[in-house]
Amino acid sequence: MKIAVTSASGKLGASIVKNLISKIGKDNVVGIARTPSKALHLGVEIREGDYNNREHFNKALQDIDAVLLVSGMDNPQKRIQQHRNVIEAAKQNGVKKIVYTSIVGAEENNAFSPIVQSNRQTEKDVKNSGLDWVIGRNGIYIEPDLEYLDTYIEEGEIRNCADQGKCTYTSREELGFVYANLLINDKHNSNTYNLVGNPVTQKELTNIINQVYHTNLIYNSVSVEDYATERKAALGDFLGTIIAGIYQGIKEGANDVTSDFEIAAGRPHKSLLEMIKTYTIQEG
Ligand SMILES: NC(=O)c1ccc[n+]([C@@H]2O[C@H](COP(=O)([O-])OP(=O)(O)OC[C@H]3O[C@@H](n4cnc5c(N)ncnc54)[C@H](OP(=O)(O)O)[C@@H]3O)[C@@H](O)[C@H]2O)c1
Repeated sequence: MKIAVTSASGKLGASIVKNLISKIGKDNVVGIARTPSKALHLGVEIREGDYNNREHFNKALQDIDAVLLVSGMDNPQKRIQQHRNVIEAAKQNGVKKIVYTSIVGAEENNAFSPIVQSNRQTEKDVKNSGLDWVIGRNGIYIEPDLEYLDTYIEEGEIRNCADQGKCTYTSREELGFVYANLLINDKHNSNTYNLVGNPVTQKELTNIINQVYHTNLIYNSVSVEDYATERKAALGDFLGTIIAGIYQGIKEGANDVTSDFEIAAGRPHKSLLEMIKTYTIQEG
């Protein structure tokens, strides 16, 4: 059985490839990457695959039994066709199964919703493909918060508009583990799973970060409007708007969903404390 993973040069794709190698061996795993040179370190066969280029996927998906489609990074409308390029090429090449990394989030009412909606359209396209399928709806990764730690320390606080809303953080490592399992075990076919950890508030997140890193951060909540203005100034309109929308979603409960991780992975999701400790050890 040969399994291919798209966006293998990215952090999520690489984590899935590594977990697959440990389960089925490197000769049965193919990484597909827009920039192949960035994925060579994985030690598996790498094929070229830009989501904008259907021809790439017609070639990249030859002799592949199952493909993992990592959700793209482009604007929502562009993504739908990009994902269709992979789905159509999979059908044409006789791929039997497709697993898609979708996302948890509010389908309406905030600035992140257009992205959630585009993912829901790809979910429909995957289900209608005629292939065996599994859909994972990913929670928010914890790693970007930890990469931002120096800024939090400089400012003495974690500040956003999530307020008391609970967020079910996951990590790329946890997702790599569960997606490898979903690709290999056909008993999961025809399921849509929320791949998330335990719900925590921003105050709880702050306390855990303080515990692991021996910091004295406090959590401060600001209004959605103020947070959007601040993020747009820091990150530009497109990304700033999305980030503010994500935290608005957390505030309004969009990320406080029931987890299917244990069913999908065959083991419980790591706690937030464990994920942060593991990240800290790995990053040295
Ligand atoms: N749940 C969350 O908290 C969260 C956070 C951020 C992102 N995401 C989603 O999760 C996905 C993967 O995240 P990540 O951590 O792996 O991000 P990442 O490390 O930044 O990697 C992004 C990947 O997308 C690839 N890519 C971009 N445009 C492409 C295209 N046109 N065709 C093919 N590949 C393309 C990049 O390829 P190159 O190496 O060629 O640039 C890279 O491999 C993202 O695409 C995004 O949809 C989720």
